[in-house]
Amino acid sequence: MKVLVVGGGGREHALAWKVKQSPRCSELFIAPGNPGTAELGTNVAIKAEDIEGLLAFAVKEQVDLCIVGPEVPLADGITDRFQEKSIRCFGPSKAAAELEGSKVAMKEFLRRYNIPTAPFSIFDNAKAAHEYINQVGAPIVIKCDGLAAGKGVTVAQTEDEAHDAVAKIMEDHVFGEEAGKQVVIEEILRGEEISVFAFCDGHNAVLLDYAQDHKQAYDGDEGPNTGGMGAFTPAPNLLSAKDEDEVVRRIVVPTMNGLVKEERPFVGVLFLGLMVTNNGPKVIEYNVRFGDPECQPLMMRLETDILDIVDACIDGKLDDIELTWRDELAICVTLASGGYPGSYEKGKVISGLDATADDIVIFHAGTADKDGSICTSGGRVLSVCAFGDDVNSAREKVYAACDAIEFEGKHLRRDIGCREEARKQKA
Ligand SMILES: Nc1ncnc2c1ncn2[C@@H]1O[C@H](COP(=O)(O)OP(=O)(O)O)[C@@H](O)[C@H]1O
Ligand SMILES: [Mg+2]
Repeated sequence: MKVLVVGGGGREHALAWKVKQSPRCSELFIAPGNPGTAELGTNVAIKAEDIEGLLAFAVKEQVDLCIVGPEVPLADGITDRFQEKSIRCFGPSKAAAELEGSKVAMKEFLRRYNIPTAPFSIFDNAKAAHEYINQVGAPIVIKCDGLAAGKGVTVAQTEDEAHDAVAKIMEDHVFGEEAGKQVVIEEILRGEEISVFAFCDGHNAVLLDYAQDHKQAYDGDEGPNTGGMGAFTPAPNLLSAKDEDEVVRRIVVPTMNGLVKEERPFVGVLFLGLMVTNNGPKVIEYNVRFGDPECQPLMMRLETDILDIVDACIDGKLDDIELTWRDELAICVTLASGGYPGSYEKGKVISGLDATADDIVIFHAGTADKDGSICTSGGRVLSVCAFGDDVNSAREKVYAACDAIEFEGKHLRRDIGCREEARKQKA
């Protein structure tokens, strides 16, 4: 089977790494890929957003299956376009991807099916939004309707912050004219934030082992939000049995059924961003693809052939699949450029990439090959992953590997996995 993986970050390197292990994969392309994926298959210089370019390539090369990493091409309808040309594509249709592409549509969907979420109002003009903030006060959460690369949400502690957020979105249009036409203003939720992933075949959803991300830039969850500084899986103490039952019964099942009813069944990876509150789990948002970096340790531990899973999802036969996982814990630490998520320098030479021990896997993200030497080219540079019998042994191994890799300005968090250790001691 000829497979095309779309995207070029750590998530897509991990997906390509897993696809490559399938005996069913005869040829692997990655578009645009990165220096890491170049070791596994053929990188194709087409951007993930260039749907027509990707389609033309897939037709020419007679690609059998396309696996899409990032959200933008999904929201733009890549799956529908590939299907029109009879090429199998793993990811939701444009109609189903709207759950991530529009916060307004997502909140209205949640309301239609009575799925637990923060109470909210929707505004299509700035004046009314400002008046509403004056009326209800802070803290309050302001959300840009359209995709904003993870920067469209403000958890405002003061009314001033809330007004600023509305002005940025609706008056200054910093996320674009279309994305900023509407805002969602919602109540703040308090509790532990978790992500739950499910493979979906349109009707059925199978939950993956839990993974936990670390969003803030610095140790102890301090500092600005990032794309993700590390992750680990499994995290069996993340949800109680009661909360897990509620997630399935009150969130996952009604989500799948609601989309079937609306004739846009969900095929792909559904990512539920949840807040576990005193009143049970509530939906913060849906994403319609794997998270990055959660995908990296999940792919490390997944034993089942990914191509069998993807086929079963596309064919509506997920019932036939049993997910099996390696017993060990897998951990992933992001090595970032100094200054990230603010401004940072690029082009720093990376050393120590070859000297890796057994059971260490390094996924590339923001790297570039400059005349044969690997240099930094983005904020998140590498995802360094390791296995361990428990959190502590995995942490020991992964940090030894992180320390062996050098580039000027290297920044990482030293406490990935510590929360799981704390939960274990509490349990
Ligand atoms: N109602 C809410 N209450 C508390 N925190 C929230 C709320 N909505 C969002 N957040 C916080 O803001 C972050 C980003 O919001 P989210 O809806 O996930 O948007 P996106 O990932 O598209 O930027 C969440 O991960 C969460 O930490
Ligand atoms: Mg989010």
